[in-house]
Amino acid sequence: MDPVHLRAAGTSLLLTFPAGETEITHFGADLGTDLPDPDLLTPPIPNSALDVPVVVGIIPQASSGWQGRPGLRGSFLAGGRPGRGFSPALRVESVDAAADAVVITAHDGDLGLTLSSHLRVHPGGLLEVAHTLTNTAGDPYQLEELAVVVPLPRRADEVLDLTGRWCRENHPQRARLRQGTWVRSGRHGRTGHDSSLLTAVGTPGFANRAGEVWASHFAWSGNHEQFVEQLPDGRRLLGASELLGSGEIVLESGQSYTTPAFFAAYSNRGLDGVSARFHEWFRAREHHVGTVAGRVRPVVLNTWEAVYFDHRIDELLDLAASGAELGAERFVLDDGWFAGRRDDTAGLGDWVVDSQLWPEGLTPLIEGVNALGMEFGLWVEPEMVNLDSDVARDHPDWIVGPDPAAHTTGGRLPLEWRSQHILDLTNPGAWRHVFDQLDALLAENNIAYLKWDQNRDLSEHGSAGAPSVHEQTLAAYRLLDELRAAHPGVEIESCSSGGARVDLGILERTDRVWASDCNDALERQTIQRWTQAVLPPELVGSHVGPTRSHTTGRVHDISFRAITALFGHFGMEWDVRQASAPERETLARAIALYKEHRALLHSGIRVNADLPDEALRLHGVVSRDGREALFAAVAVASSYAEMPGPVPLPGLDPDASYRVEVLLPSSADADHSHAFTQIRPPAWLRDGDAFTASGAWLEQVGLQLPVLNPEHALLLRAVAL
Ligand code: DGJ
Repeated sequence: MDPVHLRAAGTSLLLTFPAGETEITHFGADLGTDLPDPDLLTPPIPNSALDVPVVVGIIPQASSGWQGRPGLRGSFLAGGRPGRGFSPALRVESVDAAADAVVITAHDGDLGLTLSSHLRVHPGGLLEVAHTLTNTAGDPYQLEELAVVVPLPRRADEVLDLTGRWCRENHPQRARLRQGTWVRSGRHGRTGHDSSLLTAVGTPGFANRAGEVWASHFAWSGNHEQFVEQLPDGRRLLGASELLGSGEIVLESGQSYTTPAFFAAYSNRGLDGVSARFHEWFRAREHHVGTVAGRVRPVVLNTWEAVYFDHRIDELLDLAASGAELGAERFVLDDGWFAGRRDDTAGLGDWVVDSQLWPEGLTPLIEGVNALGMEFGLWVEPEMVNLDSDVARDHPDWIVGPDPAAHTTGGRLPLEWRSQHILDLTNPGAWRHVFDQLDALLAENNIAYLKWDQNRDLSEHGSAGAPSVHEQTLAAYRLLDELRAAHPGVEIESCSSGGARVDLGILERTDRVWASDCNDALERQTIQRWTQAVLPPELVGSHVGPTRSHTTGRVHDISFRAITALFGHFGMEWDVRQASAPERETLARAIALYKEHRALLHSGIRVNADLPDEALRLHGVVSRDGREALFAAVAVASSYAEMPGPVPLPGLDPDASYRVEVLLPSSADADHSHAFTQIRPPAWLRDGDAFTASGAWLEQVGLQLPVLNPEHALLLRAVAL
């Protein structure tokens, strides 16, 4: 079979078919059109090895000599016992190639397994791969794992992935790649606070804007594994699979299983190049919300850290008015509005408005909010249930657990988490109940936005007899899909105790993520930088929190909090009535700046400078035509250096000339003097707060920054003259 070569935006994917298998011969930089005979790559046969070269197939198979992690694990159940057909030998039957995509069908005729592999290189160079396995035999096939892998060259020698916890999502960790397998397992039944949104492997020392990088993301909101493997023969793979419970997927004759989509990006200009490919892919989606799609992201006022469960209509209307005065455009009523919900121990599952709190329903609040010129949004947590709810009392069998009627029979339920359990959405009655309740809420109220939360792990899923994480995840996806189809105008946010469900699977049916429950600007600098390594800023909710952070106890100036929130989908989550007059003044200015620049922020190219000083960060967004940019210089700690020194402003047009000015904090801001400790600012700041230089100068020589105090930031704008 002839090789298949897909190319886009500087990326090549070359597939060849040695010994009847599909091999990814190259995934990386563009190879051009003049390709040699792929036989060129046939390796030698070392001593003490198989007598034929080992093919690293698109599904690595032991039947071809692969001794690493197999691409497919499973076996047929014969007479109820697993084991038959544990080592398939899939061979290519057909290749159906178009300019940007290919579908390859492989078959093991002896066993009765068919695999169809779908690979696409999107216009921005992002590779998307998924496999479908079909049981064509008579016996049931118990699937243990079906992985998606791409090979890495040997110079890819360093791994960076992301990890975290509640209030500290998406923090990077790095290590030299060694022999063996580096596996990140997610067993939370949701994506997880610790899930690696991005797994990047690159040339040693790869950085924000330097080095070659191969990076992947797995688009799934359930259990999963992501791995990087290096075999003793030096070959290495980057891959991922759904982490299946024992017996979770049994394919009857004729049934199929499809992997979640695996995305991979190659960049020869560091991590920013990887991010650009993901961002371009997001922005090309039809349902994308953001400036490029002509859908502007409104300034949000969320009630959670403002009032928590203390819902009183007069207070809420007062808060809304205070937010509107600052420039808020969307008011989101968070947890606490529904029947029985005075704290987090009761009410989940019923989804009816609390008639004591809201004798006339939500309408008076919604109309009040609308009259202030704001849209109305509402918090829900549809996949969960409190035992103290009508639905749990009426339908104990809808609660996920080893014993379906456990709480009425005294049997065992899974351990509680925030006093809540999981509603079994694979039960058609439970699914219909939730759909109908939410459908009615959306039909009866003028709701523009849902904050869709999910506040516990799905523990004890997937064992025999219990509903599986796989099915539950698909049922939740279906719920979102059908609600969206029924209410196409409603935007939905994916929240999961902050950022425990941030992935491209959920983002196919939601419009932004809540990156973290931590609104501390210092923590947010890291969380947002790395969430945006994959997601464009317009999909990442980022709110100005209270002066003293509720989750860390730190106190930050308003300009630092506002500058941090500007580089995302901007909002407030604070009782802004409590803000001091100077705080409100700066906040109002920041909101005006956001409105003025959101088109740029939500369509431009995200850049992160490489700075030698870990205490200092410089990041920004440059418009696609290079004519305008916003940058933030951020002191995240106290520096070893007395002066921050000239810092590069990357990504500008080297030949254009720019006027650079400070937007925040300016001398008009009350916290201006807190931000710096210096006898004199740099010359350009004494001289009308502006500086003119070429893009080449700004990237190569840089800008003299004032001496920024720790946990402070400076917002800069560069405009081409
Ligand atoms: C967890 C979310 O992440 C918070 O923002 C808030 O909505 C609470 N749940 C409400 O219970």
